[in-house]
Formats: sequence, structure tokens, C-alpha cells
Amino acid sequence: MSPSYPTSAFIGGRWIPGEITFPVINPATGDIVGRVADLTPDDVRDAIDSAAAALPAWSARTAYDRAAILHRWGALILADQEPLARLMTAEQGKPLAEARGEVAFGVSFLDWFAEEAKRAYGDVIPPTMASKRYLTLRQAAGVAAAITPWNFPIAMLARKAGAALAAGCTLVVKPAEETPLCALALAKLAEAAGVPPGVFNVVTTSDPQGAGLALCESPTVRVLSFTGSTEVGKLLYRQCAGTVKRLALELGGNAPVLVFDDADLDQAVEGVIAAKFRNAGQTCVCANRIFVQAGIHESFTRRLAERTAALAVGVGDKDGVAVGPLINAEAIAKVERLVSDAVASGARALTGGSRHARGGLFYAPTVLTGVTQAMEIFQAEIFGPVAALIQFETEAEAIRMANAVAVGLAGYVFTRDIGRMFRVVEALDCGIVAVNDGLPSVAAAPFGGMKESGLGREGGHQGLEEYLDTKYVCIGAA
Ligand code: SIN
Repeated sequence: MSPSYPTSAFIGGRWIPGEITFPVINPATGDIVGRVADLTPDDVRDAIDSAAAALPAWSARTAYDRAAILHRWGALILADQEPLARLMTAEQGKPLAEARGEVAFGVSFLDWFAEEAKRAYGDVIPPTMASKRYLTLRQAAGVAAAITPWNFPIAMLARKAGAALAAGCTLVVKPAEETPLCALALAKLAEAAGVPPGVFNVVTTSDPQGAGLALCESPTVRVLSFTGSTEVGKLLYRQCAGTVKRLALELGGNAPVLVFDDADLDQAVEGVIAAKFRNAGQTCVCANRIFVQAGIHESFTRRLAERTAALAVGVGDKDGVAVGPLINAEAIAKVERLVSDAVASGARALTGGSRHARGGLFYAPTVLTGVTQAMEIFQAEIFGPVAALIQFETEAEAIRMANAVAVGLAGYVFTRDIGRMFRVVEALDCGIVAVNDGLPSVAAAPFGGMKESGLGREGGHQGLEEYLDTKYVCIGAA
């Protein structure tokens, strides 16, 4: 770990070592990467107070002023791309090339929202009475809280912090306990960029339930943004009811991929490899159920299995590694259980199908054929390097199966028929649909789901809305 990054929490511009600490484990080696401050719910409440104290001055600054600071923060993060990427690979496990890409992806959100806040226009509404004038103003929603995930420890934090700070909100971040070091590194760079004390706070803790409850129950926190599982999202939703907080929930996905007979096979195979195996299959938008039309099923499956078998598995900082470890023992046990259940029910592993020979938290990249709707793997978010293939005959059948789950974040379609493309895009119950592409996420576009995949959008101009209130002003006696 780079010695120049902190391990103390960051509240009100002060570094808080905490009375006790907890270890951060490298999932590839089991080594301790560092020990960070283990804060209590009372510390979280202190952070909320600090954010509230900083709010009036921060929200009163111009969007241009805030943008200059956000751009400076982004530039400092980019200048540290290599050490940050190495830190991320150490605490999260993803290959270094992906970690470098994630640092740049994170910065793209700071830059995007810095500019987008300059366009947070209100309205002048034509009056219904000659003596009146009506306006709307866009104002910062108040203190915001972000609960960020371990799978993208920099980009998901930046996606929330960029929007919140640009809108004029102040923020308390609770990073995942698996990956707090990246969040603290960003706090150090925020301080260096001139983000004022209290505007950006990071509370590290090994007690996510206690910290989450403190954030949800606080009447001061007006917006809660969470990225993580649907199960935890539902709990936070319930816990926020008492204070009628605004919620932005980026929850689980179970992405369908529809590969039609008319697809460009090379493009489809490469798209599925990207959508499936990025971050060892641990992304909310990962290809989860891959529906392949009968006419190309055999050739597509063979090529996908060959490409999958060639993916190098290993410790993320080694050259050429494409698939790192899973995050923890629970994650690999879940993948193992889903695959064994599918195989016991008739699916066949064309490659992989078990833990990788390296041992530890490494799972072999796997292609399963013969998956059916009755199997648990069809309904569950796999969150591991397992491609589950289902054969279909007709477009209608593929759409029906694709939508037959409770969630709807991303979906993917591979076809060269433009009519079919529009029919399928419009029919899928997904907040994001990629056509002939495996990597749709970008700062300029809205990211979010339908059904139980969540509420709200991040990125795009929509992402700023989560942190803005609309105030209507009625002016009489004009
Ligand atoms: C996620 O898995 O939460 C985000 C992935 C992405 O932005 O592509």
C-alpha cells in the first residue's frame, strides 16, 4: 500500500484515527493491506453535524466556484492514477488495467457534474394572472449521504460525490468495509484540492448496519444514495421512511443478454466477454443470463467457451491477468453453490465449473449450457465469472424469459436487424440497454434500473436531479 494514503477517517476536515481499527484484506493473497479507523454510530452523527455546518457556505458558492474545485480534485486523482490503481487492486482484487480504467472513469464523473451544475436552470413560467409572476429555483437538497460498494471503490464514490458536491450538497460517505482505503485516498486528494472542511466526510467502519441506521434515521440527511444489493436497499428504504428522505438506490441486476441468429458473432462473443468477466463478474450490470438463438447456439457457445478458457486468472497486479479473485469467502461459496445446483439439475460446464486450481478466492471462468428458468442461477445475481447460457427459438420467447425476474438494471442485445433492435430495446424491462456493445456505463448517460433494481439515476443530467430541490416562487402585484 502506498504510505502516502491515510488510514484515518475524515470528518469536518480532521483525520480521525478512531479508538480501534479493522483490517483490510487483499482478496488475492489474504494479506492485510492496512488497518483503518473503526468508527461508531456516534462518529457518524458527528460527521453529519460537520456536513450540516459546512452546508450554508458550500451551497451559497456559485456552481462555477464548486466546479473549479471538483476539476482540481479530478486532476489530482488522475495525477495519482497509478498508485490509486495499485491500492484498488490490493484491496479489491481487480486486474490493474481495470483499476487504472476505473480511476479515469471516476474522474469523468467529477468533471461531468462540475459542468452539469452550471446548467441547473430554473424556469420562468407564463403567469395565469397579469398581476403575478412565477419562477422555479433549483437549490441543493441539503446534507447527503452515500453508502458506496466494494466492486467500484473509486468510480461509484465519485459518481455520487461529483453530483452531490456540484449541486451544492455536503456529503457523508460510508465506504464498504472491504475497500475503505480508496475512499480515504480520495478524501486526502479532496482536501488537497481545496474542498472545504465538512463538505466531504468519510466514515470508515466495520459496522455497516449501525452506520447505515445512523444515516437513515438522521433528519438532517435529506438524500441517501446507495449502491449495493436489493436486499440491503429494501432495508434502507424502510429505515428512511421515518424521515421521508430522498433515495437514490442502485441495486442488484440480473442482466439478460439476447444473442440473435443475425448477430455478428465476433462482436457478440467479445461483448459478452466484456459484460460478463469485467471485475470477475462482480458488477451490477454483468451479463447474468445469456439467451442464444438456436441457429447460432452451437457456434456461439463453442467460441465463447474457447475465449473464456483462455482468460488468465491470477493476482491483479501481474501482467496479462484478466480475472482476479472474488471479494470474500461468502462470495465464492455462493457462486460454487449456484453452479453445483445448476449442474445437478442438468446444466453442463463447457469450461470451468469449479474453484480455480490457484485456490483461495479464485473461481475458474465458466460457461454453463442448458440453464433453465427452474434453476436458482436463473433468478439469482451470480456476481462471479460464470456465463449461464439458455437456448431460445423465437424473439417473443427470449423477451418473455428476459423479463421473468424481479429486477431490471441492464440488458444487452446482439442483432443486425434494426427492426428487431427497436422491438427488443422497447420490450426489455431494463433501465439500461446496450445494443451490440458490452460496456454501456459512461458519465454522460443515466445509469439506473427498473423494478427492484432501484430508484433514481446516476450520471447524465438526471444524476444531478437527485441532489436538487425545486422551489416554486410566486410573486404578486407585478
Ligand atoms: C456497478 O456495478 O454498480 C456499476 C458498474 C458500471 O458502472 O458499469
